[in-house]
Formats: sequence, structure tokens, C-alpha cells
Amino acid sequence: MSYLAKNYNRKKISFLKGKGSFLVSKDGSKYLDFVQGIAVNSLGHSHPKLIKTINKQAKKLWHVSNAFIIPEGEELAKKLVKRTFADFVIFQNSGAEATEAAIKIARRYFFSIGKPYKNRIICIKNSFHGRTIAAIHASGSKKMTEGFGPKVSGFDHFKFGDHEKLKKLINKNTAAIMLETIMGEGGIKLIPDWCLKELRKLCTKKKILLILDEVQCGVGRSGDFFAFERSKVKPDIVPIAKGIGGGFPIGAVLMNKKVASGMVPGTHGSTFGGNPLAMKVGSAVMDIIANKKFLDNVKKNSKYFHKKLNKLQEDFPQIIKEIRGRGFLIGLKLNEEQSFFIKKLMDNKLLTIRAAENVVRILPPLNVKKNEIDKAIQILNKVCKEYY
Ligand SMILES: Cc1ncc(COP(=O)(O)O)c(C=O)c1O
Repeated sequence: MSYLAKNYNRKKISFLKGKGSFLVSKDGSKYLDFVQGIAVNSLGHSHPKLIKTINKQAKKLWHVSNAFIIPEGEELAKKLVKRTFADFVIFQNSGAEATEAAIKIARRYFFSIGKPYKNRIICIKNSFHGRTIAAIHASGSKKMTEGFGPKVSGFDHFKFGDHEKLKKLINKNTAAIMLETIMGEGGIKLIPDWCLKELRKLCTKKKILLILDEVQCGVGRSGDFFAFERSKVKPDIVPIAKGIGGGFPIGAVLMNKKVASGMVPGTHGSTFGGNPLAMKVGSAVMDIIANKKFLDNVKKNSKYFHKKLNKLQEDFPQIIKEIRGRGFLIGLKLNEEQSFFIKKLMDNKLLTIRAAENVVRILPPLNVKKNEIDKAIQILNKVCKEYY
């Protein structure tokens, strides 16, 4: 008997411990974990530096109120600002909170410059920005919003790739365009660099804000610190979460000086957001991931993985339609519904997870070893062979 509500369709397995790319289940079986908490454990399980950091801080100070200056938060904010487009940061505890805060910041900016009517946010239909009431309406998916009461207004949607519709949606009430740079839950769909550049130009021309949700694709997952970096585009607001905590719940919103000007005392807050324990872990993650050598290695190893996966697709076109994604945010788009395939991989001790459009999502830790990639390829090959 489980006393947990049934809002998840959980697989009948649980794990006792984890190390690096591996998880050990209750019965002692070892699984290659290419889910990593859905892009959360960016440095794998039980990373020694994170264990050391959390133990040390746990003995000093866990939590103080944001009513006081929190040096650990100042330190992480500085690291994020020095490394990115941002001038300021607000800390949260999750991705949905971060996207919610991003929406608030965009609206508040226009309010603060005397244009409160500019409050609508344009998003991609069936994207994913989290599960709060506002975030589900930003995502614009019937599955997520059905049964949750009155529609939260203020969001307009266009289909992925429908640039004409997007342009038509912009009007005097538009505050921002908010998109995932790489759609995760939606099926690992990339917004191409040329498109990001056009989006930036469009937002600048129309004097609206560009919000890029990097909760899933950010913090090194794409091979760059942010997935949009390669395009050289500078967004105005970027919500992050998942990977920045390496397994510890942290969310954050990064923003430029212009939009931060609206966030005066009292406009936003969080009891837990920015607590010393979380901030120390985030800082330790930053020290490792923001390093050029580390990211070069993510690029190199993920390129190797993609090459092997493309070969797999060539060998089994009847099963795999397409390899999607960048860096270690990878999607195998199958010709058919993917749950059977995911189950077979799991039976062979490789953990993966679904995404929309028949996609098998593969999310290794960013520090995955080459021989672990080879092992995953070997399992994928075996399952493809057995499958047909
Ligand atoms: C792009 C994106 N934004 C927001 C969220 C919500 O994050 P959380 O589940 O931490 O609230 C997710 C989670 O999958 C996500 O992928």
C-alpha cells in the first residue's frame, strides 16, 4: 500500500544508492542511469566534491531568511553573472518557480516603465515550463491544464516553427516571448541558431523581452554553458534549475539590468530560495561545469555519442527515425510509441525516459565516461537487434 497520491505512473523499481553514472536497485542490480533525475544530477550521483561541500556547509549553516544578507548566495550570483549575459539573479527552488518568476519579472518591468498593459507572454504550444498554475498555461497543453479551473489568461501560443503566426501574435499588449532553447519534454526539438538570432532581432524591434527557458537544456547540458550561447544571442531573462543543483533543489532566474530595475523590494520572494546550503552546492557545481575544459569535454564526448547513435539509426531505420538534440540532451525519435523500447532498455540495465513525439530521452551525467557511452550503445544495439 502506498500513501502517495497517484499523480505519477511509477516504474516498479527503486534504488538504494548511486555512484557516477550508475544506480543500484534494491535487489542489488546495477543500472546505467541515463536519466539522472531528468537532467538534474549533472555531475552524476555522489560526486565527491558535492558530498564534501554539503557536509561542510551542513555543519555550519543550513538556512537563514532572505531578510538578511546571505554571502553564499552573493557568491553564487556573482559566479553566474560573471559567466553569463546576466547582471542580476533571483534564487528559487525549482524550475517552475523560476519560469513563474521570469513571467513576473517581464510583466513587472513593463509596469515599472508605465506600460502595465504590456503583460502577455507568447509561448510555443505544447512546450513545458513547469506545473504551477501559470506555468501550465504558459505551456499551453490541454493535458496539463485540463481540470484545473479557470484558464490563466495572458498567454498566446504558436506552433513550433510557425514564424508567421508568431509575428502575427505580437501586439501592443505583448511583454515577452518565452521559449525553451531546446524543447525537452516536447521531444528534444532545437531552436536553430539562425532562428534565435531572428527572434532576438524581432524582440528588439518590437521592444519586447526574450525569455529563454534553460531549466533543462542549460548549465552545460548542450555542451555550452547555455544552449543559446552558440548563437551569440543575448536574452533578457533566463530561468534555470535542474543541473545547477547537481541533485539539490535550486532554481534561479538570470536577468539583465534593464528588466531587473522593476524588481524592487517586496515584488518577489521565497522562503527557501537562496539558502546557504543550496547556494554552496550550486557554487561547487558552477566551479566544475562553468570551466572551459569541462565543457570542451562535454562537447567531445557528446559528439562521440551522437556519432555512435547516428550509426545506430542507420543500422535500424525501421526502429529509429531520427537522432535529435545537442550535447547530452539527446532524443531517439522512434517510428512507434516508445514505452516498450524504454522497458527493453531497462531490462538490459540502461535507464532512459520518454519525451513527446515517440522520443526516448537520453540524459547521461555531463561527466559520463567514454566506456559508459560504449556500454549504452552496446545495450541499444542489443535491444534494436532483439526488437526486430
Ligand atoms: C524547460 C523546463 N522548464 C521548467 C521545468 C519545470 O521544472 P521543475 O520540475 O523543477 O519545476 C522543466 C522541468 O522539466 C523544464 O524542462
